[in-house]
Amino acid sequence: MKNIAVLASGNGSNFQAIADAIKKGKLKAHLKLLISDNPEAYCLQRAAKAKVKAFIADRRDFSGRKDFEEQIILKLRSEKIDLIILAGFMRLLSGEFIKKYRGRVVNIHPSLLPVFKGAQAIKDAFDYGAKVSGVTVHFVDEEMDHGPIILQEPLKIKEGWSLEELEKNIHNLEHKIYPRAISLFLKGRLRLEGRKVRILKP
Ligand code: GRF
Repeated sequence: MKNIAVLASGNGSNFQAIADAIKKGKLKAHLKLLISDNPEAYCLQRAAKAKVKAFIADRRDFSGRKDFEEQIILKLRSEKIDLIILAGFMRLLSGEFIKKYRGRVVNIHPSLLPVFKGAQAIKDAFDYGAKVSGVTVHFVDEEMDHGPIILQEPLKIKEGWSLEELEKNIHNLEHKIYPRAISLFLKGRLRLEGRKVRILKP
């Protein structure tokens, strides 16, 4: 079975969805590690409850990004991590990091990329008056919210929804789609062809 690590900075509801999918047998993987750059993040409590090892890499404890990423890489190596899963990780990984792990780092974003990039994607779609938004899972490259798309799922924004309702529906969709995308990766069904991802038949 393959080893996976989640990198998160906040709430960790996607971490939870992945841990739950494993527990239910829907996702076959060893969730070996949660890495957080935020010592206060709620995802750390979720990890403790799920009995997943946690590593706090507080950026303030390191002299620079290189040093910070080196510690993360050491951890990933010592746990023999096959797939790095970004789930609300609020730091941009360097080009050197991406070069080392290209095709083995995935991210989830709460919009249909390439629209509404950035940390406020759900609010931006809401404020814009979009009628449809959705969720994207993609391989990570050097740019923010960018890289070959693995899965996308649209969501119709209903007339009269509040921002909170839109957020809730987007997050529910994320929790379904992320384990599905991870499972495709772990089954070896994703083939990177240039900037496109082909999903192979089972
Ligand atoms: C999610 O909306 C994800 O798409 C974005 O950050 C949020 C993280 O939420 N990248 P959580 O910490 O998993 O609850």
